Amino acid sequence: MTKKVAIITGGTGGIGLATAQKFVEEGIEVVLADLDEEIGHREADRLGVNFVQADLAAREPCRRLVDTTLERFGKVDILVNNAGFQHMASIEDFPEDKWDEMLMVMLTAPFLLTKYVWPSMKKSGWGRIVNIASIQGLVASPFKSAYVTAKTGLLGLTRTTALEGGAHGISANALCPAYVDTPLITGQMADQATLHGIPVEEVPEKIFLQSTAIKRMVRPEEVADLIIYLCSEKAGAITGASWTIDLGFTAQ
Ligand SMILES: NC(=O)c1ccc[n+]([C@@H]2O[C@H](COP(=O)([O-])OP(=O)(O)OC[C@H]3O[C@@H](n4cnc5c(N)ncnc54)[C@H](O)[C@@H]3O)[C@@H](O)[C@H]2O)c1
Repeated sequence: MTKKVAIITGGTGGIGLATAQKFVEEGIEVVLADLDEEIGHREADRLGVNFVQADLAAREPCRRLVDTTLERFGKVDILVNNAGFQHMASIEDFPEDKWDEMLMVMLTAPFLLTKYVWPSMKKSGWGRIVNIASIQGLVASPFKSAYVTAKTGLLGLTRTTALEGGAHGISANALCPAYVDTPLITGQMADQATLHGIPVEEVPEKIFLQSTAIKRMVRPEEVADLIIYLCSEKAGAITGASWTIDLGFTAQ
């Protein structure tokens, strides 16, 4: 049986890299896509996978990522739309170009990549698409207008993809994590401290974990485990769903 082939965007970051590691353990061929060439090649070599440098804030790199994967492996079976970043500012102060970039990377790129992998998945009669959204797709927070908008939109894309993919063996699911221990969240601490007027060291307790039932951060490997499950044969009846992995944040 030929190996499954997976593309992971933002693949050299916290959740993406943890997922790549687990895909490799499952015998899945992996193509990591990310911004930094040096880090990308280093991590890809370490895992024995492929790396494609791609800034997903534009259409052409999205097309090139899928074409490169198809040239190398002849198909794409799994797409994990994971690339993302945070920028915090009030609506009044939010830079327009940053808004465009965030919507492009976290909403338009997942659409384009879904569109570009679609013919291959349709031909195989099998495909798994996992979109990494956020609890911010379910509930909003101040100072995160672009992020909340992109992640909320991604849930809509996931549902539509699921409806169109069902007839072709393609499933699409979204993950809604909270506070995963990755550079994205640690990089946010200084902004959170300034915007809320508290010392940086109080951010985890007073901002991140104040409304969670479990008082610790999610580990990237825990998100990766759920992705692996959703991409497995066992999850064949699951599609169009938004999976929280949020320490109980949205339970109240
Ligand atoms: N960390 C959290 O608490 C958390 C919570 C909910 C959702 N998420 C989502 O999980 C996903 C992964 O984030 P993470 O926490 O692992 O953070 P991370 O910063 O470790 O990883 C994100 C990766 O995306 C890449 N990326 C950013 N812009 C890109 C672009 N234009 N083109 C290509 N790659 C780009 C970054 O270089 C980075 O490697 C993101 O979509 C994020 O929004 C994270």
